[in-house]
Amino acid sequence: MMDLQVVVACVIGFFYACIAFFGMLWRFIRRPLAFTKELFYRKKRNVPPACLNDPSLGSHGFIHLEEVRLHYVISGPEGAPLMLFLHGFPEFWYSWRYQIREFNKDYRVVAIDMRGYADSDKPKGVKNYTVEKLISDIRQIVPALGYEHCVLVSHDWGGALAWNFASYHPEMVSKLIVMNCPHGAAFQKFIRKSWKQFKMSWYMFFFQMPFLPELMFSINDYNAMKMIFTGSKGGVKSDSTNQDDIEAYKYAASRQGGMTGPINYYRAALRFPRIFGAMPKIEKPVLLIWGKPDMALSTELAELSRQYCNNIKIEYVENSSHWVQMDKPDEVNQLMRNFLK
Ligand SMILES: *[C@@H]1O[C@H](CO)[C@@H](O)[C@H](O)[C@H]1NC(C)=O
Ligand SMILES: *[C@@H]1O[C@H](CO)[C@@H](O)[C@H](O)[C@H]1NC(C)=O
Repeated sequence: MMDLQVVVACVIGFFYACIAFFGMLWRFIRRPLAFTKELFYRKKRNVPPACLNDPSLGSHGFIHLEEVRLHYVISGPEGAPLMLFLHGFPEFWYSWRYQIREFNKDYRVVAIDMRGYADSDKPKGVKNYTVEKLISDIRQIVPALGYEHCVLVSHDWGGALAWNFASYHPEMVSKLIVMNCPHGAAFQKFIRKSWKQFKMSWYMFFFQMPFLPELMFSINDYNAMKMIFTGSKGGVKSDSTNQDDIEAYKYAASRQGGMTGPINYYRAALRFPRIFGAMPKIEKPVLLIWGKPDMALSTELAELSRQYCNNIKIEYVENSSHWVQMDKPDEVNQLMRNFLK
C-alpha cells in the first residue's frame, strides 16, 4: 500500500512535470534545431578546474565508511579542534571555500562531498539516500578522522542532516552552525499551513518524478548550475561566485551519474518520511544564520526552529540569497567567529 502523502506529492509532482515538459516542447517548436542541440550538449570534463586544486583550500582525500567512500578536502593544524562542513543541494565541498580559508588558521577543517555528490560514491537506488543512511555517514566520519566530536557547520540539505545529527548524537557535536535550513519539525508543520512555502517548495514535488529532473539539470551543458548560483532569480548577488566557480559546479554535477544521487535525497525524504517532531531537543549551542530573502525557504522558518533548541542564536543576513556562505562570506565568517569565541 502506498502512503497517501506519497500519492498526493506525486500527483503534484506530475503537475509540475507537465509544466516542465510543455515548456520544453514549446522551446522545441520555436527553435527545433537549436533546442535539440542544447538538449544533448555536454562539454567533456576530464580534468578538474584549477580552482578545485587550490592549495589554500587543503589537500584531497577519501574516507572509507561502511557503505561508501567519501571524498573530502582537509586543511588546518593537526590536532586542532575539528570543524566539519556539510554542503547542500546541488552543491559540493567547494561551497565552503570562503569559510575554509578563514577557519583553517585555527581549526582542523574538513569539507566533504556527501554521499551521491561529486567525487564521493553514488550508490544506486532511492533507499540508499534515507536520512538514516546520511546521518550514519556523518556518525562514522568523525571517528574516521580521529576525533570524538566536532564543530558542525551546515547549509541547506547539510543543515537538515546536522539538525538531526546534533539531536541524536549530541556527544559528537560541540557546537552546531546551520545556514538557511529550518529544523525538520518546523518545516513539516509550516509547509502544511503556508501556501507561500508550499509554492516555494514546488521543486521538492517535481523531484519525485523519475528522469525528467535529472534531464532539466543537464540540458545545455548543465546550464541550470549557472542559473541557480548566479541567475537573477535567487542566485548569489555579490561577485563572490564567478565563471570559474560555475565551471566547478558543472564539473561536480557531470561526474558519473550526475544529479541522480542528489535528487534522490528528496525522493527518499518523501518515501521514507521521519517524524521530526519526535526528535530530542538540541542541548548544544546552535547558531542559525539566515540569509534573506531566500527563494526556497520562507523567513518565518528560522523563528519556528527556535522551539526545538535549548540554546539558539539566530542571525539574519540581509540582501543575501539562499547561498549565504558564498554570497556574504565576510559577514558569515564574522558571525561564526563571534559564536565560537
Ligand atoms: C545500495 O547501494 C549498494 C551499493 O551500490 C547496492 O549494492 C544496493 O543494491 C543499493 N540498495 C538499494 C536498495 O538499491
Ligand atoms: C540592501 O539592499 C538595498 C538595495 O540595494 C539597500 O538599500 C540596503 O541598504 C541594503 N541593506 C543592507 C543591510 O545591506
